[in-house]
Amino acid sequence: MESVNNPSFHEIFKPENEIPQEYKVPEIHQREYLLNGELVVWSGEVQEIYSPVCIPTENGLQRKLLGSVPNIGPKEAMEVLDACVKAYDNGLGEWPTMSVEGRIKCMQKFVYLMIKERDVIIRLLMWEIGKTLADSTKEFDRTVDYINQTIDALKDLDRESSRFQQAEGTIAQIRRAPLGVVLSMGPFNYPLNEIFTTLIPALIMGNTILFKLPKHGVLAHYPLLKAFKEAFPKGTVNTLYGKGSEIITPIMESGKVNVLAFIGSSKVANGLKKLHPKVNRLRAILSLDAKNAAIVTKNANLDVAVSECILGSLSFNGQRCTALKLIFVQKEVAEEFTQKLTAAVSAMKPGLPWEKDVKITPLPEVNKPPYLKECLEDAKAKGATVLNENGGFTEESFFFPAVVYPVNSDMKLYHEEQFGPVIPVVPFEDIEEPIEYQVNADHGMQVSIFSEDPLEVSKLIDPFVNLVSRVNINCQAQRGPDVFPFTGRKDSAEGTLSVFDALRSFSIRSLVAAKVTESNKDLLNTIVRDHDSNFLSTDYIF
Ligand code: G3H
Repeated sequence: MESVNNPSFHEIFKPENEIPQEYKVPEIHQREYLLNGELVVWSGEVQEIYSPVCIPTENGLQRKLLGSVPNIGPKEAMEVLDACVKAYDNGLGEWPTMSVEGRIKCMQKFVYLMIKERDVIIRLLMWEIGKTLADSTKEFDRTVDYINQTIDALKDLDRESSRFQQAEGTIAQIRRAPLGVVLSMGPFNYPLNEIFTTLIPALIMGNTILFKLPKHGVLAHYPLLKAFKEAFPKGTVNTLYGKGSEIITPIMESGKVNVLAFIGSSKVANGLKKLHPKVNRLRAILSLDAKNAAIVTKNANLDVAVSECILGSLSFNGQRCTALKLIFVQKEVAEEFTQKLTAAVSAMKPGLPWEKDVKITPLPEVNKPPYLKECLEDAKAKGATVLNENGGFTEESFFFPAVVYPVNSDMKLYHEEQFGPVIPVVPFEDIEEPIEYQVNADHGMQVSIFSEDPLEVSKLIDPFVNLVSRVNINCQAQRGPDVFPFTGRKDSAEGTLSVFDALRSFSIRSLVAAKVTESNKDLLNTIVRDHDSNFLSTDYIF
């Protein structure tokens, strides 16, 4: 059923002169990287950056060239690491010893400068990763909100720590202190938001940052380099561009990274951790593999289930770690559910990211369409069908969503994280079947349960809360609201992120303690009164 009846399928990619002026971006040939507070000019090898948006040419469809970025080598990468290590200076540097109020002021300056770049960053997100205008705008605004919420959460944390505690004849002030050099690496699907949900809390807690830019979404950070340079003391944030295997390996092997903040595959994360010579000195905050399931029982409101499964499996073309990547549906309602689901998929408008009401857009990863095709072929060979018209239609970087049914455990789509616009649907008889899937899965992030029956829902909640980290009732899986904990079990995550939890994840408690004696009381009071210490202080940040 891969015929192409819809004329719009042949018109997804437009000649350049038909692209509205307000969404165009000039080519950016970035030659600078941020090293020790300087935008150092690079004259070596570069990496060209291409858009998933193709332009029709005499030679067929071609991905549009967006620009290029430095491809720095291991020698320069080690210089970047050294700048970061020096700025931290074993915790004695300007940034780690700065008062919380001082760090907040720097962050406020950064967010002020960042907002000035809003328009160009949103346009770059659309061009670089094919995210729709609405979602690119949301990603930017959500990130700004996240930074502001982080500032507020740190103020709260600081207020709670701005007092002495007394126990068993000991008086102490307990605060959270930084950990050291943080290597921050993130994914292409939320190149701004997901990276900043680790980088910003790590930074504001007083750590220094080695920021390895993602492969897709790299240019979207270009307008922010100056903001980092201007807002923070030199060496606090340093950037790395290039091949991970060449530049990250020596950095990890140096043993100088204290925290690995990584969003990507568990395989890569494990490889990176193993490179560190003293694993006990490395804290890892990881967001990894996931294949969140939806379970639609015979007691579900099918309209709700369909609209949430569409959102869950196809928002940003299914390229979300939280996406619903496998749908279990009880046999009694499987036919009705799949009919409604395929109708909803057919109604989705394909097109370019800036087009009105567009929902399905081109994919940035060059190898993704052939991989998805391979998954469909595998499923078909083992008895499944693509239910929707045009499902799996491919043209260069564009792939129209495919609803695949009936999927079973012999198929790739049952086990592999497709991270793209394919919806595998598994019919089940007994509710134990989806539970069994989760028990045997290597990941454990979230699940979505669709049912209106309170008893049935409770019987699913209890096993699933111990198998995954979030059970969604009658709604898609998702990360937000950002104040809620975001984590996973098994190979899905290490550490917990939320606005507040991230501040904890990137810091350690440190305390100043003394016996309660008259002379110690005098001593501590004098330090506090004279504001001689940034740590030992009862100042209250408003
Ligand atoms: O890719 C993983 C993102 O953190 C998911 O966030 O659920 O808000 O789309 P989201």
